Amino acid sequence: MSISIKNEAEINKMRIAGKLAAEVLEMIEPHVIPGITTNELDQICHDYIVNDQQAIPAPLNYRGFPKSICTSINQTICHGIPSEKKLKKGDIINIDITVIKDEYHGDTSKMFCVGASSQHAKRLIDITQECLFLGIEQVKPGTTLGDIGHAIQTHAESNRYSIVREFCGHGIGKNFHEDPHVMHFGKPGEGDILEAGMIFTIEPMLNIGKRHMKVLKDGWTAVTKDRSLSAQWEHTILVTPTGHEVLTLRKEEM
Ligand code: MF3
Ligand code: CO
Ligand code: CO
Repeated sequence: MSISIKNEAEINKMRIAGKLAAEVLEMIEPHVIPGITTNELDQICHDYIVNDQQAIPAPLNYRGFPKSICTSINQTICHGIPSEKKLKKGDIINIDITVIKDEYHGDTSKMFCVGASSQHAKRLIDITQECLFLGIEQVKPGTTLGDIGHAIQTHAESNRYSIVREFCGHGIGKNFHEDPHVMHFGKPGEGDILEAGMIFTIEPMLNIGKRHMKVLKDGWTAVTKDRSLSAQWEHTILVTPTGHEVLTLRKEEM
């Protein structure tokens, strides 16, 4: 397989899908409070995507995934399945939204603190977001995937966090997951060279403890083996002739 180069028409559709995914995260923010269940968050997002955005929640039935969003709490790394579990004060949660609009995907996630969170949880969340943006800063024609991974790995490890290796960023377009694999660790100059028109996600997952994970019996929920806290942030990024454009930017980031 090779990395597709999107044309102007495809890029415009990806801009729309990306903006919609970002707007779901903005919409859900005031609902992420103690006492709400992740099923309720799922239902609110599902209805908003389907009815207000006239779009499709990509996770629903994707390879058997049963819900419209992923909700990953505390020691859950990613792919948490919404359930009847209530959020409680002090929890940290990643909400991962992928929408399909006019056949194209937009994929983005962010961390929320439920009520107030501990200082050590906040520090993990902040460093993980910094890792995402350090990775994004690398994106321009001529740099390599290894440059992105290296920037992320260096910042995470210099702050004594570990990086999950089993999951990575990915090309995205008409398919949810396309080439390339965008690793969150690596060596400068290694891997594929970026070209204008490529679109992929960067979505680092950092743990306070060791990097190792296990998948629960539900076949999806990935948790830290040592039960330490984990955080993740994700954006969908276009390589432009001069650098990059983040297709899933929220107002709070502009
Ligand atoms: N949104 C996730 C990603 O960033 C993928 C979720 S797959 C699902 O790649 F089936 F769990 F939804
Ligand atoms: Co993704
Ligand atoms: Co995602």
